[in-house]
Amino acid sequence: MTARIVVLISGQGRNLQALLDACADGRIDGRIAAVVSNRADAGGLQRARDAGVVTRVLTSQDYADRASYDAALAEVVDIYAPDIVVLAGFMRILTPGFVQRYSGRMINIHPSLLPRHTGLHTHQRALDAGDAEHGATVHFVTEELDGGPAIVQGKFMVQAQDTQETLAERVMQQIELKIFPQAVAWLAAGDVALVDGKVRFRDRVLDAPLSMDAVEGRFR
Ligand code: GRF
Repeated sequence: MTARIVVLISGQGRNLQALLDACADGRIDGRIAAVVSNRADAGGLQRARDAGVVTRVLTSQDYADRASYDAALAEVVDIYAPDIVVLAGFMRILTPGFVQRYSGRMINIHPSLLPRHTGLHTHQRALDAGDAEHGATVHFVTEELDGGPAIVQGKFMVQAQDTQETLAERVMQQIELKIFPQAVAWLAAGDVALVDGKVRFRDRVLDAPLSMDAVEGRFR
């Protein structure tokens, strides 16, 4: 059954575009029912409109506090009765109530090799720490910021000449835009699920996230 998907964004929407494309060409058995942004100027809103997808904007200044914002956000999201809620560069911390409402059906992409570098400025922090490897992670969203069970992670070696800009670009192009559509496709197909706080992938429970090998279909 084709999954109904709601995508939350704050920015350019490159990840959103990858999801729109993967729904359009059948790699994801899903349909993006709505795109919701906390910023009226998010570039991703135009990408959604261009694809004929409904857009909604909820500006935090219009709400007294985080709880009332999240209550309004849930009301909007629920209009579209999503099977899957995708955080695609949604730059807000969500309340426990919101997170629990979508438990097991909400995923996020984070530009680091979690559990390393939760939060912001991940590329610079990977450089500052002298990390040999860097990448991105797709994970189920739990109450712990960037701390939910990881589904898939892609990585590469950091080069001596890397800057935060080159890392950001390589993480986006080589990792994020590949692992995110694949993770959503797995979730939509029932290949991935959150069971007792762990990730089930097909017939096994993962003790480590899937890798690019799984994304590229090379199982070892
Ligand atoms: C991505 O790097 C994502 O991992 C991070 O914010 C960025 C969003 O970029 N959380 P875009 O809006 O998908 O272009």
